[in-house]
Amino acid sequence: MLKIENLVKRYGSLTALNRLSLEVRRGQVYGFLGPNGAGKSTTILSTLGLIYPQEGRIELFGEEIFRQGRYNEGKLVDAKGKVGYMPEHATLWEFLTPLQTLDILGQSFGIPKHERLKRARELLEEVNLWDVKDRKVGKLSKGMRQRLLLAQALINDPELLILDEPMTGLDPRGIAEFKDIIKEQRKNGKTVFFSSHILAHVEEVCDTVGVIVRGKLRVEDSIDNIKSDFLRKGGYLILLETSKPVNFEGVEWKIERVSETKYKIKAATDIREQVNDFVWEQGAKILQLMVRVPSLEEIFLRMVKEEEGEHSH
Ligand SMILES: Nc1ncnc2c1ncn2[C@@H]1O[C@H](COP(=O)(O)OP(=O)(O)O)[C@@H](O)[C@H]1O
Ligand SMILES: [Mg+2]
Repeated sequence: MLKIENLVKRYGSLTALNRLSLEVRRGQVYGFLGPNGAGKSTTILSTLGLIYPQEGRIELFGEEIFRQGRYNEGKLVDAKGKVGYMPEHATLWEFLTPLQTLDILGQSFGIPKHERLKRARELLEEVNLWDVKDRKVGKLSKGMRQRLLLAQALINDPELLILDEPMTGLDPRGIAEFKDIIKEQRKNGKTVFFSSHILAHVEEVCDTVGVIVRGKLRVEDSIDNIKSDFLRKGGYLILLETSKPVNFEGVEWKIERVSETKYKIKAATDIREQVNDFVWEQGAKILQLMVRVPSLEEIFLRMVKEEEGEHSH
């Protein structure tokens, strides 16, 4: 449905996209995950013809809309008619109500008055805003505003929904509500491509995740594989203090002895029980045990470092 091949976008001397390739298939909910500045928005703007990459190829709905520095304007216009887009930094008319907002947008799409109202109601119900349809947009919560932006993106009943960081800045409840709506969209047969820098945002709703780091797609896989891979790469870090020294001979964990009775243990899986057994067998007691699972941000940074390592070879 959306296929990007070897896309290169340079802003002056900065290479924002460095031969980026990815593919979103029909019916997928694709999470486009990457740290701030990785090139997510640049990728999205490219698929909409809003910026000019220098190299690569973009296919939308099977049509080649971009190749080697040029958009095919005719095909781009056709394709965009079937796309709904929610920008990262969007503005709303603060003094209008949600109903008025969608009515005006409907007008700009040339939808007749009677149909417009019907459509606005459908959309507001879909994004759970019908109850506040007459409240001024300026008085809506951040979560409500994001859902109104989503309703705007849905006005033309698009086949493909492109959302740029739609859940950023929402509280847990707002995130849960937004996720539910995306799940609904998926049930309705929509394909969704959305970006985020937070793993928790793409959990549950996405079937596929692509991870972008420094303008390159590092992995494209199922959410389950990505998560276990992250955990394996990041590993568990256990800080342990015992009542007397413990001999950790023969284990496959990385042990660093910080002091007589303090240890730093690194392992790929959760080994708390095994650690407990070791300590107990030697007649020692655990005085303190702390587990740290790395954050997504740390794992991103590690991936970036790995990439730099590759480059220096
Ligand atoms: N208009 C621009 N001019 C110059 N540099 C830009 C511009 N837009 C983005 N960049 C740079 O390109 C890189 C990728 O940005 P962006 O695509 O916005 O990342 P993301 O959306 O993943 O946070 C960043 O280093 C950013 O500073
Ligand atoms: Mg962005």
